[in-house]
Amino acid sequence: MGKIKDASLAADGRKKIEWAESRMPVLMKLKETHSKKKTLQGLRVSGCLHVTKETAVLVETIRACGAEVAWSGCNPLSTQDDVAAALDASGIDIYAWRGLSPKDYYWCIEQTLRIGPNLTLDDGADLIFTIHGKLQQYLPGVIGGTEETTIGVHRIRAMAAEGKLKYPVIAVNDAETKSDFDNVYGTGQSAIDGIIRATNVLFAGKNVVVAGYGHVGRGITLRSRGLGANVIVTEVNPVNALRARMEGYTVLPMDEAAKLGDIFVTATSVKDIITAKHLESMKDGAIVSNAGHFNVEVDVKAAERIAKKHRQIRDNNEEYVLKNGNRIFILAEGKLVNLAAAEGHPSEVMDMSFANQLLSLARLSKEGRSMKPGVHETSKEQDAEVARLKLDSMGIAIDKLSEEQTRYIADWKQGT
Ligand code: ADE
Repeated sequence: MGKIKDASLAADGRKKIEWAESRMPVLMKLKETHSKKKTLQGLRVSGCLHVTKETAVLVETIRACGAEVAWSGCNPLSTQDDVAAALDASGIDIYAWRGLSPKDYYWCIEQTLRIGPNLTLDDGADLIFTIHGKLQQYLPGVIGGTEETTIGVHRIRAMAAEGKLKYPVIAVNDAETKSDFDNVYGTGQSAIDGIIRATNVLFAGKNVVVAGYGHVGRGITLRSRGLGANVIVTEVNPVNALRARMEGYTVLPMDEAAKLGDIFVTATSVKDIITAKHLESMKDGAIVSNAGHFNVEVDVKAAERIAKKHRQIRDNNEEYVLKNGNRIFILAEGKLVNLAAAEGHPSEVMDMSFANQLLSLARLSKEGRSMKPGVHETSKEQDAEVARLKLDSMGIAIDKLSEEQTRYIADWKQGT
């Protein structure tokens, strides 16, 4: 049996899950077809991914396909306790509650591995690290795994490069129907949702500084501009910086941007993006938040060190009064603002991400034993299937190439 915060919240959590189901037509369609085929029959799946209403739909889909499931969250502040209670009530082995200590966080992951998984599902690769480290005895039973997020894929690639990754892992993050939608439109909306819930500030007329112009940064800049903000981008990658400039954003080093910003959002996956010197040069009232997976981008410890005093001023919003008298507001302790201060990405976009998760698990169950240890891409066919199902659910028809057009594309002898 698992461990959650409060079993009495199960009925509320169940309603949230039903709401998410009504917004996730692709995953629900796959649930229908794959549960009939019992695609994952007899397999044990350990998962480590934010416990939200959307994740609950995925977990129950995996179970409906015949698998036994054990689950934990992948961030100490992102678990929705009512959803965890609903999953627990439906018999899922779940170890998750909001506000975990670092020790409890890893304890929860370890409990999910005790089922002896055949498949692992990660968001940030903490489960993969745990099974390759402290709980290596479970490695021989693993057929394969999946990874949901950008930084997790970076890390397992690093493991694979050193020959340390002992089973095949599919980089779900890198599917086009994942990263071009979830990372862009999902984070674009949910990060701003988190900032607004924690502050209720007006974006119009503000200087919003977005650190990082990858998929996630692009989404946040797009939606901030849509709300009437003046957007400044900071980057280390010259191509991304150029992209941002050509989209019409101001590009500056963080040392300069720090003096101008009203609202800061980090989206780099790298540590020490906003440090003490930046906090000290910010304007009075600046709001600082992070949309990257780990809470390493904003140096919250430095804020504690350089502040005269600090207090919680609203939910997920801490006021730091610096020695120069300026007040800086740090949201959600520098943790993922979209999941800690809001509900994560909307169901409609998680629909595609989790369809990719399910299809990747299905592929591993069939082909995993013959796949080499290392990082594997999702297929073009899978992207096409997910996109087609999504378009169908939206009632959108598209054109089809004629045979002549197909021949034309393939004919290298055709000139001008
Ligand atoms: N990551 C971002 N948003 C999420 C959500 N709603 N559920 C699970 N993982 C997420």
